[in-house]
Amino acid sequence: MIFVLTGAGLSAESGLGTFRDEGGLWSRYDLADVATPEGFARDPARVHAFYNARRANCRAAEPNAAHLALAGLEAALGDRVEIVTQNVDDLHARAGSRRVIAMHGHLMQALCHACAARWPAPETMSPEDSCPRCGATATRPDVVWFGEFPHHMERIEAALARASRFVAIGTSGSVYPAAGFVAEAQRRGIPTLELNLERTGSSALFDETREGPATRVVPAWVEEMLATA
Ligand code: APR
Repeated sequence: MIFVLTGAGLSAESGLGTFRDEGGLWSRYDLADVATPEGFARDPARVHAFYNARRANCRAAEPNAAHLALAGLEAALGDRVEIVTQNVDDLHARAGSRRVIAMHGHLMQALCHACAARWPAPETMSPEDSCPRCGATATRPDVVWFGEFPHHMERIEAALARASRFVAIGTSGSVYPAAGFVAEAQRRGIPTLELNLERTGSSALFDETREGPATRVVPAWVEEMLATA
């Protein structure tokens, strides 16, 4: 089974910002203010405004050739591909991928932090919104913030334990636990490949790094996988 980990670089060419590149989101916003439970408790209106803007960008964006190539790989190989994404955009799904584990949640969904109900996020969310199920004014974006636990970790660890190949696409390898997956793959002795615009701080942990934009290097890699499948 091919374990594919994707990060913000996969959606960069769809026009969605990355976090740590030149001009990335964390160079324009203090992540403590907009991506932590403490930041949300301090100023929920500011956090909702941040995610309302990201949701509008996401709605206006289209999946790119890399998302489509990964959907094609899954269409051909089925459960022999497992995509784990750190991204909260819905571009994998809109490209046709069905088997995606979203470990950092979903930007286009809302969550009630009183009763844990989830529903499609409205265009704009505000602190005054009430939960459609329990009525509490306790709605938040359904995304995992720093200091919170990523979702589906058991499923992810089970997939990593079954993987015969590990590929990381468009991620800087800065944030755990995702940043630790390649070391686990190395420990298991399976081939590891990094597809990224440039070498990263984790490149030394990979057998191979292919440098280039995702819309070029991902379709080329998928063709290679399909030719040898
Ligand atoms: N093609 C391929 N890779 C690209 C492209 C591109 N067109 N553009 C940028 N990249 C690469 C950058 O070189 C970088 O290594 O994408 C990576 C983006 O890194 P980050 O901005 O750190 O994004 P990511 O690794 O996904 O961040 C992980 O951090 O803030 C949290 O929860 C957030 O999920 C995110 C996590």
